[in-house]
Amino acid sequence: MNIILIGYMGSGKTTVGKALSSKLNYSFKDLDAEIEKIEGKKITTIFSEKGEIYFRKKENEVLQNILSKENKLVLSTGGGTPCYGTIMDDLLKTENAIPVYLNASLDLLTERLFSEKEKRPLISHLESKELLKDFVRKHLFERSFVYNKAAINVSVDDKEVSEIVEELILKLF
Ligand code: S3P
Repeated sequence: MNIILIGYMGSGKTTVGKALSSKLNYSFKDLDAEIEKIEGKKITTIFSEKGEIYFRKKENEVLQNILSKENKLVLSTGGGTPCYGTIMDDLLKTENAIPVYLNASLDLLTERLFSEKEKRPLISHLESKELLKDFVRKHLFERSFVYNKAAINVSVDDKEVSEIVEELILKLF
């Protein structure tokens, strides 16, 4: 089984993914890191040099390639990965893949993202916390419809990584 972590930027997909994979003895991949390796560039540079549409195509291509090869994998996706084309519906139909939504509140996301926005091209231009919060509120609302299709939905607010991992394991197996 491949466990696909989805959720908004800042929801902890990479941190939780690493911890979950080591607990399960699964391998771990981070989709953004895989794209950066293949392109030899940071995500921000890909966005600025080639644009978002190019990134989305690459993201889908790398995702399909990983899923066709792996078996016991925890994959952390990018916040937008399941939200384009038919990716989420395709993931739900993929026999050996289970999408898991890491569900974080607007307040938690705003706090986390404000200090890390530089490496995220979609939000790096937002100067104040208020502007960031307004952006995330709207964007999360648009994306939640897709995230909520996930087979498993775990709320991450006020929880240690280890607690989230335990909860995920209980829900998964
Ligand atoms: C994006 C999220 C990012 C990265 C890119 C676009 C998005 O990944 O894929 O900047 O559309 O939400 P993280 O969720 O790991 O920040």
